[in-house]
Amino acid sequence: MKSITLLKDKRILLGVTGSIACYKAADLASKLTQAGALVDVILTESAQKFVLPLTFRSVTGRPCTTSMWDLDEHVRHVGLGEQADLFIIAPATANTIAKLAGGLADNLLTLTALAARCPLLAAPAMDGGMYAHPATQANAQTLRDRGVHIIGPAEGRMASGLLGRGRMVEPPQLLAHIRQVLGRQTGVLAGKKVVVTAGPTREPLDPVRFISNRSTGKQGLAVAQAAVDAGADVTLILGPTAEPVPLGVNLMPVTTTQEMADAVLAAVQDAEVLFMVAAVADFRPDTQSDHKIKKTDEQWGLAIGLEVTLDILSAVKDRREKTGFPRVALGFAAETKDAFEYGRQKLLRKGLNFIAVNDVTAEGAGFGVDTNRVALLSSAGVVENMPRMSKTAVAERLVHHVAKALG
Ligand code: CTP
Repeated sequence: MKSITLLKDKRILLGVTGSIACYKAADLASKLTQAGALVDVILTESAQKFVLPLTFRSVTGRPCTTSMWDLDEHVRHVGLGEQADLFIIAPATANTIAKLAGGLADNLLTLTALAARCPLLAAPAMDGGMYAHPATQANAQTLRDRGVHIIGPAEGRMASGLLGRGRMVEPPQLLAHIRQVLGRQTGVLAGKKVVVTAGPTREPLDPVRFISNRSTGKQGLAVAQAAVDAGADVTLILGPTAEPVPLGVNLMPVTTTQEMADAVLAAVQDAEVLFMVAAVADFRPDTQSDHKIKKTDEQWGLAIGLEVTLDILSAVKDRREKTGFPRVALGFAAETKDAFEYGRQKLLRKGLNFIAVNDVTAEGAGFGVDTNRVALLSSAGVVENMPRMSKTAVAERLVHHVAKALG
């Protein structure tokens, strides 16, 4: 799930120090560049024993610098440090962490770190014993106290062949941290508590069978990611899905409608926004068996009696009337005909600020696909009728409109 706008034209400084994890830094540089960032890389002398400047020039399409003894580079990097939106040092060796803690500026990377005024992230990579050493621990703590984001290290196999805590966190997770830090700094929902529901719910008939729907959770997960990118503190209440969950959310997995309702009502108590994207199961079997129903179980016969599940948004509406939270509520209307009219009715019935209407039978829209066709309605009428676009883009538009309504 790529961000379309968050990283676009953001100036990211990537400092690379001498560790075997250097090869992963090239992947991080590539992922950032693909997401639209302008990535400037600084390699220390030790890093160049593992990777070449050419590696980074090739993936970023920008110069990669190594020496502070070239005056032009020196001046350029002090400038880059001042202009950067974010500086990440990955991998960060014990040596560089110690230098940063002490405020040394003996190479281009540490010098630029002193000049930089943007958020600084460091992803340590070293032998487990080196990381556990009180000197390294104290240095890392000094940096944390100064507001540096220390990411990891993770547990696992080291270059030495030993297991321990010293592996650099993988590039996708680093990218997620970068997005979170940037979002909190500049996002339109920075610091706001946002609740997102996604995926289907399931209503059990017996321990092996259930009633559900075709939702995969893609659109709700995209909304959760867009809210993280916008700097929100996101609680994601997620029904069963095989899709990857965005990093940086407070995840609450649920299965049934009742579980989702309980989680939503608890989470919205102090939330600014609710995005109710989940495709909630509308019906459940009126009786559930605690054992697998056998073909020969006469009491069950072949008919399943159904009852209607709790309407979560209607329960939220009652809550809002009493408490005022969530301040803004957005629902989805999955329709197969007369989408606008049914959507408008649901908006009013469920007391929503917005409803995102989609005809789930339209081509390139609805369940399981990566695109959607959504019209956003409010009580004043059509807010935006979006053409077919990626679910990520739809999510970013919805976040934009909701942030505007919050003011
Ligand atoms: N929803 C809910 N609780 C339910 C069912 C749906 O909160 N038990 C929410 C959905 O998450 C969505 C909105 O209500 O945000 C509309 O869902 P939809 O399935 O389109 O409508 P229904 O309320 O089920 O109405 P209908 O059966 O008439 O389509």
